[in-house]
Amino acid sequence: MNTRSLVVISAGLSQPSSTRLLADQISAAAVGAAERQNIALTVHVIELRDLAHDIANNLLTGFPPAALKEAIDAVEAADALIAVTPIFAASYSGLFKSFIDVIDKDALADKPVIIAATAGTARHSLALEHALRPLFVYLRAVVIPTAVFAATDDWGADSAEGTLRSRIDRASGELARELERRDPVSVVDPFALNVNFEDLLKSL
Ligand SMILES: Cc1cc2nc3c(=O)[nH]c(=O)nc-3n(C[C@H](O)[C@H](O)[C@H](O)COP(=O)(O)O)c2cc1C
Repeated sequence: MNTRSLVVISAGLSQPSSTRLLADQISAAAVGAAERQNIALTVHVIELRDLAHDIANNLLTGFPPAALKEAIDAVEAADALIAVTPIFAASYSGLFKSFIDVIDKDALADKPVIIAATAGTARHSLALEHALRPLFVYLRAVVIPTAVFAATDDWGADSAEGTLRSRIDRASGELARELERRDPVSVVDPFALNVNFEDLLKSL
């Protein structure tokens, strides 16, 4: 079985968070869908709530504190992403956008991404199409066709079997097929010493 890394970005602020709940449901479905394509996914969840101060500091100083650097490195090295935000004022939340702003603008190029959101009302479901999809297209990510939106009403007793479940499953299947036709991501360290140190000294 091939191994790939999946990074899940959750921008919920509440505790417990419906955004995190949606993120967990999508990542569990993605793991299952990938398994059916003979791919074992390792899942790394990034809770932006825990990094909020670091993100603000990065925006002010230009440098990420250690925990944020680790999260950014995980995103850059990921084979695929699931990005979930609460809808605030009919768009992605400020914290979600600020995290995206501290990631290198080329880091998401060619990376498959499921976009998803939670909200109070289904009337704002198109925020995924007018806000999140263009953002990730600008970053040259490969945005999975099915976006997943969960309003308060979608979390009813039958949410495990209803429209929300079918969208989660469809998006996860699309992501797994995208992963299947891709090589694993390899991140090149520009500061890595690739030559033998003794050889380097001999050449002086
Ligand atoms: C500041 C703020 C703005 C919001 N704006 C909207 C909105 O425009 N449309 C909407 O449907 N829900 C809106 N909501 C509701 C949240 O999107 C919803 O409660 C979300 O699921 C919260 O996610 P969480 O439980 O992960 O924190 C807003 C909530 C807050 C706190």
